[in-house]
Amino acid sequence: MATTTVAQLKDHVDQHVTLQGWLYNSRSSGKLIFLILRDGTGLCQCVIEKGGVPDDLFEQLGRLGQESAVTVTGLCRSEARSVGGYELAVTDARIVGPATDYPITPKEHGIDFLMKNRHLHLRSQRQWCIGKVRHTVIDAIRRFFNDNGFVLVDTPIFTTIAGEGEQTLFEVDYFGRKLHLTQTGQLYLESAAMAYGKVYCFGPTFRAEKSKTRRHLTEFWMVEPEVAYTDLAGLLELGENFVSYIVERVLADNRPQLEELGADIASLEKIRPPFYRLTYTEVVDILTSDRAAKFMADQQVQFETRKAEIEQRITEIEAQDKKGGLKKWQQEKNARELIELRGELAEVDVKIENNPKHAQLAADFRWGKDLGGSDETIISMMHDKPVFVTHYPREAKAFYMRTDRTNDAVVENFDLLAPAGFGEIIGGSVREDDYGRLLGRVHDEGYAPEDYEWYLDLRKYGSVPHGGFGLGVERTVAWISGEKHIRQCIAFPRMMDKVYL
Ligand code: 4AD
Ligand code: MG
Repeated sequence: MATTTVAQLKDHVDQHVTLQGWLYNSRSSGKLIFLILRDGTGLCQCVIEKGGVPDDLFEQLGRLGQESAVTVTGLCRSEARSVGGYELAVTDARIVGPATDYPITPKEHGIDFLMKNRHLHLRSQRQWCIGKVRHTVIDAIRRFFNDNGFVLVDTPIFTTIAGEGEQTLFEVDYFGRKLHLTQTGQLYLESAAMAYGKVYCFGPTFRAEKSKTRRHLTEFWMVEPEVAYTDLAGLLELGENFVSYIVERVLADNRPQLEELGADIASLEKIRPPFYRLTYTEVVDILTSDRAAKFMADQQVQFETRKAEIEQRITEIEAQDKKGGLKKWQQEKNARELIELRGELAEVDVKIENNPKHAQLAADFRWGKDLGGSDETIISMMHDKPVFVTHYPREAKAFYMRTDRTNDAVVENFDLLAPAGFGEIIGGSVREDDYGRLLGRVHDEGYAPEDYEWYLDLRKYGSVPHGGFGLGVERTVAWISGEKHIRQCIAFPRMMDKVYL
């Protein structure tokens, strides 16, 4: 008898097989037990008939607690109505590791509770789907660069210099010397780009971010390509090809997971080059325009309408439940729908509260500030494909960005905003390649020039125009999955106020 996995059942129709997994869910009707088995590759309904297995086993299986480890043997049948499309007619089973009172039940749990139980929460369907998408995103990232002539260079995690501003550095005591956890591999990567031409680094990155938003972790994964002999146009082209490739791979490999997650597949299918290109100055004009004001007012109306719809549906379901006489499955279905509706209602309420504030912030926006999260959200909501925003004010950006030689007030940089309100997933730039200008910027920032000596050296020995960008993995996974908070997009998230396990 072949031991196989749920994912492989398609090759075993009408054969006897054994599956090894955990009990996801079960129901019983006296003569029949339906076990939904979860084995890490998928879900499969296993049907046990009374008399089909020894009586004591039948009785034990009927009482089996959620998440008990169990192996089941049976005949694999094609069954379109079953989850995954196959079903097992069980002839034998073995309880490997029983579980009683599994803490995470199908009822609603608060996010704090789920995060405290993250070690178990990873088994839930939604988390599992997100994890599968993340796996594909990471595989696609490596494949893209490896297939396009980039050399992987691993940059250090203990660093002596700041890349992205000293406010977000984590300090470590390195044998009595103060070092930092890396915020970016970029500066090291620039030196490697002069050795190999096209390079990338990929690893965990640390920022002592004081913000507790849905877009910020203190430890996140970032991939950074760096290219010698390129310019802003070359970087934008690389960025749009790269992001389109990642999305294409997830659509090819994870369509069932995207469906289960409720991701916006139709809009993901539109992710193809070219992306929109706007300058920062154009973005400021949009934010302060009547068009944006009208867009925000329309949004408010849509939120209010949706709120009314949800409230009405909740009232209907509650009336049904109160009336009584519902079958168990109908009660369960109603309970699930109520959880979802109440969750969505809470979200819509937040939007209704925040939308006017964001509209005001946008209307009051003045040239010179960095774009805030809400400004990015507005621009990205107003577009159906990702938007490159280029040429930010020099004052608002990192010291290493190349000053635009035609306009000293701006730098040759870009952010990429994902559509549908998601916001920034990439930040990048052309690097200042002129020794004198770069030294000036190091001084302006108040950095100690001796710390940056090696970095400045790159501008002394064969300096060339070059640049690159960084893509945040968790933000990319969240955007593609349609998940709002990036803490769900890494197995064990670290945030400013919370480290659970
Ligand atoms: O825009 P950032 O800060 O750019 C850099 O670090 C450059 N040195 C990259 C480069 O040019 N090589 O960060 C790049 C991306 C952001 O767009 C975002 O996706 C992600 O990293 N990111 C974060 N993700 C989660 N939590 C945080 N606190 C993040 N900060 C940045
Ligand atoms: Mg950025």
